Amino acid sequence: MNRTHTQDEWIARARQVLPAAGFGNFDASVVIARGQGSRVWDEDGREYVDYLIGSGPMLLGHGHPEVMEAVLEQLSRGTSFFANNAQGIELAEVICTAVPCCEQVRFVTSGSEADMYAIRLARAYTGKTKILKFEGGYHGMSAEAQMSLAPAKKLNFPTAQPDSAGIPQSVADEMLIAPFNDLAAVASLLSEHEDIAAIIVEPLQRIIPAKDGFLQGLRDLCEKHNVLLIFDEIVTGFRLAFGGAQERYGVTPDICTLGKIIGGGFPLAALGASAEIMSHFDKSAVGADKWLMQLGTLSGNPVAAVAGLKTMEILRRPGQYETLRRNGQRLMDMHTEALDAAGIAHSICGDATLFDVYFTDAEPQDYRSARHRDPAVNEAWNAELRAQGVFKSAGKLYPSLALLEEDFALTKNAMERAVTRLETST
Ligand SMILES: Cc1ncc(COP(=O)(O)O)c(C=O)c1O
Repeated sequence: MNRTHTQDEWIARARQVLPAAGFGNFDASVVIARGQGSRVWDEDGREYVDYLIGSGPMLLGHGHPEVMEAVLEQLSRGTSFFANNAQGIELAEVICTAVPCCEQVRFVTSGSEADMYAIRLARAYTGKTKILKFEGGYHGMSAEAQMSLAPAKKLNFPTAQPDSAGIPQSVADEMLIAPFNDLAAVASLLSEHEDIAAIIVEPLQRIIPAKDGFLQGLRDLCEKHNVLLIFDEIVTGFRLAFGGAQERYGVTPDICTLGKIIGGGFPLAALGASAEIMSHFDKSAVGADKWLMQLGTLSGNPVAAVAGLKTMEILRRPGQYETLRRNGQRLMDMHTEALDAAGIAHSICGDATLFDVYFTDAEPQDYRSARHRDPAVNEAWNAELRAQGVFKSAGKLYPSLALLEEDFALTKNAMERAVTRLETST
């Protein structure tokens, strides 16, 4: 590799020109130089098994040869047109065939945007204004989404607490916050407030699964109260199943948002719904006062579209989701074995396609119960895994289809070492 700077030099340069020395996404003490298959390398040439996978999109691994070939071919034909292009139209067709709630989609560039427009669309369609979201649920960076994501104080429900400076109180006043997995709380809010346009929910909230009947219960309550149900499937779309969480759990929302995997590692996201709901993006169909203006320079970008199309073509081949689940289950079992052997209290939380460990003896079911008994234990665990060559975020582990036997062996070894570290530090 032709490296001219050490990682520390890059970090020092970043400190000069980037607030908090980074892009705001991830631990700024690491600078990634490249990725291939299941692995990434930092600027010092250190190699890791990658369980961050770009925060979700790289389900096939880095630089998948078929995706690269499709992208290179598209690069030679043009990279950005703003105008409609065949690649984006084909991608829309694939999504609408795969995802139950989508008759039509609108492309945007990021999941944040998709969620912002989904909320606006629900308001345009229903003519109502309030949005119910769950404490701890993540829906990107819009003012509405930045409510009670990681609240510092435990306010009484349904009071919304901004997570960010710069958001007016008037936005908080339009939001109602409920505890995840608490259908009774949702039912009483819907009875008390007639002006709720939509409930927005991650069908797998971060890594916390919905209890049996919770998502169907939301669906039923939404029908009863004439409220739209939005599934944020930015993470779960094309991951939990080809048709996303709505296929996996058998509950169809009114609107869903998609991102990450559908762009095959390039900037692309979407929101989708029935043609009737989506007609609010068409001024000629709904008239000027019900029209939702929406455009974006890179929306439907052809390079992202071909990467997404090829990714989906590969995911549709027989056995892919079985392999992904088998990979994830193997990693879950590895956690259990290592932590049980050391007698360390833990709960493996999530789905085989996306999970992590909570160091607690309680089962996490909402934001307030999803807690490590001692956060320092989780920090030590993640730090030791990183030192042993396992790259992941502090609260999620994404299995991929690129994992090889040597990756599992390295990970098992890393966990056995990390457990020893926990035993000595607790
Ligand atoms: C559930 C969920 N919604 C929305 C987003 C925002 O997506 P983006 O980072 O593409 O803006 C994310 C990002 O991780 C997410 O996990």
